[in-house]
Amino acid sequence: MSILITGGAGYIGSHTCVELLESGYDIVVLDNYVNSCPEALERVKKITGKDFKYYECDIRDKEGLDKIFKENTVEAVIHFAGLKAVGESCQKPLEYYDNNIGGTISLLEVMRENGCKTIVFSSSATVYGEENKVPFVETMKTGTTTNPYGTTKLYIENILQDIYKADNEWRVVLLRYFNPVGAHESGLIGEAPSFPNNLMPYISQVAIGKRECVNVFGDCYDTPDGTGVRDYIHVVDLAKGHVKAIDYILKNKGVEIFNLGTGHGISVIELIKAFSKATGIDIPYKITEPRSGDVAYSYANAEKAYKVLGWKAERDVNQMCADAWRWQKNNPNGYKD
Ligand code: NAD
Ligand code: UD1
Repeated sequence: MSILITGGAGYIGSHTCVELLESGYDIVVLDNYVNSCPEALERVKKITGKDFKYYECDIRDKEGLDKIFKENTVEAVIHFAGLKAVGESCQKPLEYYDNNIGGTISLLEVMRENGCKTIVFSSSATVYGEENKVPFVETMKTGTTTNPYGTTKLYIENILQDIYKADNEWRVVLLRYFNPVGAHESGLIGEAPSFPNNLMPYISQVAIGKRECVNVFGDCYDTPDGTGVRDYIHVVDLAKGHVKAIDYILKNKGVEIFNLGTGHGISVIELIKAFSKATGIDIPYKITEPRSGDVAYSYANAEKAYKVLGWKAERDVNQMCADAWRWQKNNPNGYKD
């Protein structure tokens, strides 16, 4: 019996593969490498000393998916595969809806045809929208999304709830991630964006000298230092949350939603300073215009995951920065090195 990981060569997927293998699960991975490469999976093997099969496959390719289900005994799926760049999703909404929603529907159809009805889905804190007040709790009504990427997450959550209502043999976990950062402590796997849209990869690229200074998107928010506050979570803690979610859903039916965050927010300037402290590298920054669609605060109430899954984030911001820097320093050009 294996856990099928879609998008397993990506940033969060590769870290989750490590934690699943180290917890004794067998895994099978599929990815179309639109935002990753097979080298990440070779490095997962190196870290864990364990072997597993991986396939080059697009989740919209039902024949390809079916072949994977026929060649393996898939007990459950962790579904990471998706496009995730907020700005790009506003330029290419159809591509995002096709890839993320169309792809998820074809995956769910093939799962059902093969009698596999257990899925853990990568959702996002973005589904809380602008209306809800922090800390975000899973029982809150989802909000209004501000971009097509966020809308795909909200729709997929709805689709997964609907298939359970129609057929309560489905077992579904929706994991709402806050802001994953950092890298595996080996320095062998990490996030390798071609352009750093998110804050931590941008800081790392300033540290390595690829960019001059961090643009801080606005200092006029209603927060202690005026810059946006987020719940940064170490990617290894996040990956461990997936192992707990799989342990849980293999034993329980139904649909459950969990926030995966630390429960604490820190500001843009606090993160820049924490990175300097952890690495000894000065990070120049300048205040620029706010980015459209940003909210002042986003952080989790992380109690449910602790109560139900027995999971909580353990790595602090110092470790997030130190591990992000080790990865960046050892792999200045990502997996091309
Ligand atoms: P990532 O881009 O590194 O990983 C996604 C993987 O999916 C990539 O390897 C990509 O090649 C693959 N993929 C994309 N479309 C595919 C398709 N049609 N068929 C097969 N493979 C496909 O991103 P990540 O940061 O690891 O994110 C993983 C998941 O978590 C995504 O669904 C993302 O939306 C979600 N998420 C990420 C964050 C974050 O901050 N990183 C926050 C909230 C939610
Ligand atoms: C962003 C996405 C969100 C997605 C998440 C994970 C937007 C509006 N939101 O969240 O949908 O789920 O990434 O992929 O894009 N910042 C700077 N300078 C930078 C980059 C960011 O000041 O160069 C600030 C932002 O204004 C924000 C904070 O840093 O206050 C974190 O930004 P980022 O890392 O992009 O994550 P989110 O905006 O929280």
